[in-house]
Amino acid sequence: MKGIILAGGSGTRLFPITKAISKQMVPIYDKPMIYYPLSVLMLAGIKEILIISTERDIGYFKKLFKDSLEIGLTIEYAIQKTPNGLADAFIIGEEFIGDDTVAMILGDNIFYGQNLTDYLLDAASLKDGAVIFGYYIQDPREFGVIEFDEDNKAISIEEKPARPKSKYAVPGLYFYDNSVIKKAKELKPSPRGELEITDLNRLYMDESKLKVIRLGRGMVWLDTGTHSSMLKAANFVEVIQDTHGIYIACLEEIAYRQGWITAEKLGQLAKPLMKTGYGKYLISIIEE
Ligand code: G1P
Repeated sequence: MKGIILAGGSGTRLFPITKAISKQMVPIYDKPMIYYPLSVLMLAGIKEILIISTERDIGYFKKLFKDSLEIGLTIEYAIQKTPNGLADAFIIGEEFIGDDTVAMILGDNIFYGQNLTDYLLDAASLKDGAVIFGYYIQDPREFGVIEFDEDNKAISIEEKPARPKSKYAVPGLYFYDNSVIKKAKELKPSPRGELEITDLNRLYMDESKLKVIRLGRGMVWLDTGTHSSMLKAANFVEVIQDTHGIYIACLEEIAYRQGWITAEKLGQLAKPLMKTGYGKYLISIIEE
């Protein structure tokens, strides 16, 4: 399975922070925002990754990750010239996806929880159809909203409904079979002028090929779309890391635990980071 991180957009809801830099480069506590979604793809066992961003910002991501062979990944880069919507990623990424299945995560979504890896491995084993998630929130009006029948089957999915039919928002993490490319090309722009991921998911639902996994109480999904939600996410990361002494989205740690890099390599990667808790944490993992 291939992985796409969509890190585009103009970030207008975060102005003036994002006037000159990409939203997904902004720190969430101790690391750039994009570390969090990248860590999710890595936990799903995905090693081939495409980062899609704007013409203005793509260079910063290249600087941050290079081709990232250092942590066992291959990272490619592509530009989304105009904000044509999330489903556009599969048209831009057509060549990168090739004949494979694909996961996409939005560059500003953060996931954390005990069973996260189980959910991810389950979704990543998909051969046919699509897997998305449902997450219970108080007010889902800003998101895709999914409705279930008594048998837990998804029966409707709507983008930013004024009157949501349920309290289940759809987080920005999606797993698809290869027909996603063809389906994305069939979509027509929505009233807001975008190829909507919700319309794409509806196509799978209409074919009875949409599996929705409801994330339980132990799972945390944080969207970082506003100043306030960004601060909440940063505080959350600080509390977990400081209390447990366990890092969220430590890419080098994940690569090491996945068996993609050796302890020796981890030591080398830690060296330039030794003035930070992050670097010391990497050393503590080797000494475990
Ligand atoms: C997008 C999707 C929406 C999804 C959300 C998750 O919204 O369109 O369905 O629930 O991401 O973050 P947008 O970021 O375009 O407002």
